[in-house]
Amino acid sequence: RSPGQGIVMNETPGDSRMELSREDITRLKVDAIVNAANPSLLGGGGVDGAIHRAAGPGLLAECRLLNGCPTGEARLTSGHRLAARRIIHTVGPVWRGGRQGEAELLASCYRQCFRLHQEAGLASIAFPALSTGAYGYPREAAASIAIEQATLALRDYPGLVRVIFVCFNEPTWLAYHDRLTGAATR
Ligand code: APR
Repeated sequence: RSPGQGIVMNETPGDSRMELSREDITRLKVDAIVNAANPSLLGGGGVDGAIHRAAGPGLLAECRLLNGCPTGEARLTSGHRLAARRIIHTVGPVWRGGRQGEAELLASCYRQCFRLHQEAGLASIAFPALSTGAYGYPREAAASIAIEQATLALRDYPGLVRVIFVCFNEPTWLAYHDRLTGAATR
């Protein structure tokens, strides 16, 4: 297995084209990695900070030209110094208790990332656990949305061949693993 290869879940129900990884997303050699950004697109902490550090100053220069990104939408940039060819920046919802449309906004993030990814003619994509860090979205509910949207995208986009979910900590890994193996109750 090449470094960065997750554990393929094809021994379990669900789509074998979905994988889990514990790698730092900035190290993955895939067509595109997704950044959990904020509406300014000018960098931040968490995975946003890691991606900007690894991609170098050229990424911020490119992002300045994009004039921000509303929650639930996505923007495409070059990968700059990353192994990944492109970066798709998306702005997840801040969790406010679940009654402010957070679930639909998070689902929209995934849908918009897949749309831009396929419009760019790319085949593989890696996502961090959007909104589950600083934005406080409960991991289990967020993992269900991620897997549901990836399942639909794999059905609808023939060019999409590999979806990697990067689980950067144990609770996130368990949330995704339980849902991908069908062990979790819905
Ligand atoms: N690779 C993969 N995943 C990572 C990495 C990394 N290098 N660093 C952090 N993560 C994980 C976190 O552990 C968490 O599971 O990414 C997930 C998302 O957490 P955040 O990065 O905090 O993103 P989010 O919750 O969407 O909050 C976005 O935080 O960094 C700021 O500018 C960003 O304002 C925005 C907000």
